[in-house]
Amino acid sequence: MTTEQHIQQLRDFLDKQNYNYYVLNAPLISDQEFDMKMHELQQLETQHPELFDPNSPTQRVGSDINLEFEQVRHERPMLSLGNTYSRADIADFYNRISKALNGEPFDIMCELKFDGTSISLVYENGKLIRAATRGNGTIGDDVTRNVRTIKSIPLTLHGNYPAQVEMRGEIIMPRAGFEALNKQRIDIGETPFANPRNAAAGSLKLQNSSIAAQRPLDCVLYYTLTDEREYALHSESLEDAKQWGFKISPHCQLCHSIDEIYNFVDLWDKKRESLPYDIDGIVFKVNNLQQQQTLGFTAKSPRWAISYKFKAEQAHSRLIEVTYQVGRTGTINPVANMEPMQLAGTIVKRATLHNADIIEALDLHEGDTVVVEKGGEIIPKIVGVDTDKRPANAQRILFPQTCPICGTKLVRYEGEAAHYCPNQDGCPPQIVGKLIHFVSKKAMNIDSIGEETAELLYKRGIVKNIADFYKLTFNDIYHLDGFKETAANNIIKGIIESKNIPYERVLFALGIHFVGEVVAKKIAQAFPSISLLQAATKEQLLLTDEVGEKIADSVIDYFAKPQNKEIIAQLSAAGLQMQKAEKQLESETLSGKQFVISGTFAQHSRDELKAIIENNGGKMQSGVSAKTNYLVAGENMGPAKLEKAQKLGITIISETELISMLNK
Ligand code: IVH
Repeated sequence: MTTEQHIQQLRDFLDKQNYNYYVLNAPLISDQEFDMKMHELQQLETQHPELFDPNSPTQRVGSDINLEFEQVRHERPMLSLGNTYSRADIADFYNRISKALNGEPFDIMCELKFDGTSISLVYENGKLIRAATRGNGTIGDDVTRNVRTIKSIPLTLHGNYPAQVEMRGEIIMPRAGFEALNKQRIDIGETPFANPRNAAAGSLKLQNSSIAAQRPLDCVLYYTLTDEREYALHSESLEDAKQWGFKISPHCQLCHSIDEIYNFVDLWDKKRESLPYDIDGIVFKVNNLQQQQTLGFTAKSPRWAISYKFKAEQAHSRLIEVTYQVGRTGTINPVANMEPMQLAGTIVKRATLHNADIIEALDLHEGDTVVVEKGGEIIPKIVGVDTDKRPANAQRILFPQTCPICGTKLVRYEGEAAHYCPNQDGCPPQIVGKLIHFVSKKAMNIDSIGEETAELLYKRGIVKNIADFYKLTFNDIYHLDGFKETAANNIIKGIIESKNIPYERVLFALGIHFVGEVVAKKIAQAFPSISLLQAATKEQLLLTDEVGEKIADSVIDYFAKPQNKEIIAQLSAAGLQMQKAEKQLESETLSGKQFVISGTFAQHSRDELKAIIENNGGKMQSGVSAKTNYLVAGENMGPAKLEKAQKLGITIISETELISMLNK
């Protein structure tokens, strides 16, 4: 077998496993086996850059090239659907169709209306060549790079597919993944997404496709467009698309009467809570494509289809009190505590009130009867007040001016809706939040210390800040209630082992506001030791990938505080990794040579090229100068840079030439 065949075989194998796992939900091999094959393919592809294929399963990890989205024109406009909200509206639609078809019999395909963001996927000769958002229906954003990372979308089709085909569907984020993502965001002080739809749309528009790759996205297809097949029925075209590898909803039903349609609607209005993702209604489509043609389109939507939107469920209850929680980063989160009510299948007692503006807009009073809604949002919210039922002399709910826990005067930053308690180092819930974050899995991973233990250690005055963890002794823990010898030993062991956690994760663990996992990695790359980072100016920080004003200010503020400097000194003394580990070079081939990279590249991201150069002894420069030895030029390179390089007589090479320098 040639290498090319071997690579192809691995790609086919991995595509098939992805399909089994993500589309059929029926994996045939273990994760470990999958990872091994993936690793094998990655290695072969690195050794053979000439066999690069953007549709290889290895490319689903994304890359961190920064991109501006290109605008693309849809071959056929992406229309929306007319909305209906009642049975009477559905009956109108049904009768309209019947009339327009002169009484000819017709079937309606009932489908779930997925609550995500619509997508167009274009395939040529079985390869995904473009993915675009709906945009304004005529022109959308090219989001191909991010879409390639969604594992349930086939990059290569199988079976008897048409040479040219466009599939349309919905990108969704299942609820479980959505909740985990929001938890992560709250952990690092980022605003959580309001609902899975926003999270899905936001993820598609990420600049960095390797972050998109980590987002739990899924895709269901509901529309096949191709000139090469003469389908008689919409349902047939979906059946075919399923054979090519697409995820098609199993919950479609062909209905032959209006009563069957009503039954389908009633069924899913109840059953939708048991789905792992959100739907916001039902879509009805005339199944016969000839009839669809007869019915045609209006300027905005097809006449052969319509959507029915479920009502957001509402319930009434009485407000008991508003309490205020303090988050790790000091945000004050108002929560309405109400008499328990039944809503959308669960018992609800609490609803978020978001911020002071919302409370004011509702004109909320003590003891008010409130209208609570559970719509696309996971957390129920108060959408109104029944003022007729307001008790006499009820007091208005006023947002506190001071922190409900530590009493510090609250602040509100310009352009932000939230109030903050600025007492970061003295406000107990903020301190405990920081301790919990520090030991968490993605930070220092001290799993023998859970949330309760961290809180207990703080309450007993044993651990007052993150550096105190490294002063803990066996006796400190052993003497706490409920701690046996093994538990105490495990905690000490966990703390000692955490000293090997790499620098970038230590940076993340510090809990600097807005410095999440990805940003911490970027900062660690740009400032490979804590002392370099401490000395960094705002301007230098702003030169780092992913770092904008907000993050730069937050980092500067953090290191400006004497107590934080002290904590860093103590962590360093305790032996934590405070600088990037020296990497073993792969070769010295490029040693003594200075490189500049410019433009975009077909085979590698800029970061990958940088790593390749540095791993082989080369040095990176940010701009062309007389000292530059090589300019690695990609597509769309700035003309000024090129001209300067030519003037200085610098050798200009392509990405392939760079790779072949190494293979010589
Ligand atoms: S068919 C021309 N089917 O709802 C027909 N749309 O309100 C195109 N949607 O933009 C749409 N589930 O993003 C269709 N089963 C389904 C759907 C669906 C969700 C979305 C889609 C569309 C919007 C219209």
